[in-house]
Amino acid sequence: MERNNNISAEELARQQEFMEKVKDINEEFYNKTGRRKKMHITTFGCQMNAHDSEKLLGMLKNMGYEETDEEKDADFIIYNTCCVRENAENKVYGNLGYLKHQKKENPEMRIALCGCMMQQDVVLQTIKEKYKHVDIVFGTFNLYKLAELMYINMETNAPVFDIWKEHGEIVEDLPTIRHFKYKASVNIMFGCNNFCSYCIVPYVRGRERSRCPQDIINEIKALASDGVKEITLLGQNVNSYGKGLDDEITFAKLLRMVNEIEGIERIRFMTSHPKDLSDELIYAMRDCEKVCNHIHLPFQAGNNDILKKMNRRYTKEHYIGLVEKIRREIPDIALTTDIIVGFPGETAEQVDDTIDVIKKAKFNGAFTFIYSKRTGTPAAIMENQVPEKDAKANFNRVLEALNPIIYDLNCAKVGKVYKVMADDVSSNDESYITGRLEDNSLVHFKGDRSMIGDIFDVKIIDCKTFYLIGERV
Ligand code: 5AD
Ligand code: SF4
Repeated sequence: MERNNNISAEELARQQEFMEKVKDINEEFYNKTGRRKKMHITTFGCQMNAHDSEKLLGMLKNMGYEETDEEKDADFIIYNTCCVRENAENKVYGNLGYLKHQKKENPEMRIALCGCMMQQDVVLQTIKEKYKHVDIVFGTFNLYKLAELMYINMETNAPVFDIWKEHGEIVEDLPTIRHFKYKASVNIMFGCNNFCSYCIVPYVRGRERSRCPQDIINEIKALASDGVKEITLLGQNVNSYGKGLDDEITFAKLLRMVNEIEGIERIRFMTSHPKDLSDELIYAMRDCEKVCNHIHLPFQAGNNDILKKMNRRYTKEHYIGLVEKIRREIPDIALTTDIIVGFPGETAEQVDDTIDVIKKAKFNGAFTFIYSKRTGTPAAIMENQVPEKDAKANFNRVLEALNPIIYDLNCAKVGKVYKVMADDVSSNDESYITGRLEDNSLVHFKGDRSMIGDIFDVKIIDCKTFYLIGERV
């Protein structure tokens, strides 16, 4: 299959040279001081950012840095930022204020900012004016240039800003350090063309572009031979995967190809847009035994006027019809969603439509958000922005509808046995393992570290709203 969209081998080799140069400088530091430089990455936002951070970590380790859990001990600090909602941005500013004092104590400290927030002019302006202790700023399109930017900063001792307004080519083969040994995320596409009226993502992540299927398959095969059993395919809107590629490929076809890869046991994906969810995809999910029985299908709001103003391009009835079709084909599927409350002009009666969808669709889980005004999006200048107290009251009503449904669906699992992938030891109690059912439900059960990465039969013995308790059988 033809490669297109990809960055040239020369550019990658150039970046490799910068990595070597930074590594040499760090080696010199080590020879002089007897200590290795440390780094710390803080990641905000979605799985896409989490996966970008794995690439940042891979590059930094190649440059001779050691990872530390304590930000205050780090010589190189990165914030990989999110701008989907205002509170994520405020946290970054808050942390930066604090770092100003830390930097005085450690003059070696370098601070880098990257990710979605940096793609906004107003943010860049604020950083240049108020946060002069920031050393390196780059965006969502040029992550692969980290080493070059670090080298320039080290050589000049001056702040380096490098923000691209649109994407260049797709970058393959960046060194990556995975957070988990047995599961991995794989980008299948970048960007978004949907322009939902509340959402900043299309402005900061650019237009949709898909990776070549062969690159994706090769990456997954390599991961499988490295012991990875669970793959999550990532894209802002995976259902439009393949558009614009030379290959005749759809997301459903890609799923079928990934399903054939030996060694992979579970396949997940994020995120689907209801307007492009095809029958072909539902059948692929039904037919592919490795594709997990879970779909995350954000519906955002239940009222048709609000959906129209959100530019979601489906109706409440279409969404409910879709859910029925999915459940008919895949009866044990778990359905999760995203919901926004308090979109401009949304009344309490219109929120009743959202609650109606919740009751009809019977979600197994939901991310619920109060609408956050994002400058530059069409919704930011719409009339009737909803006062916070009204949005909060409606938000609470939504949770009151949602939580008992989630709880009941969880409790229906009690007494049954499920296959559970052991992810990690529990952060509260080392004698417990946290794992995921195929449908993505979280379960805690007795175990130890040696079990991580394997799949066990677990009987569910108790249920809470947000997790299950189980025991091995
Ligand atoms: N305000 C609140 N929530 C938002 N989301 C996206 N933009 C906003 C916003 N301006 C939510 C949507 C999306 C999820 C990733 O974040 O529900 O699906
Ligand atoms: Fe944002 Fe809509 Fe694109 Fe999702 S589909 S990233 S909500 S614009």
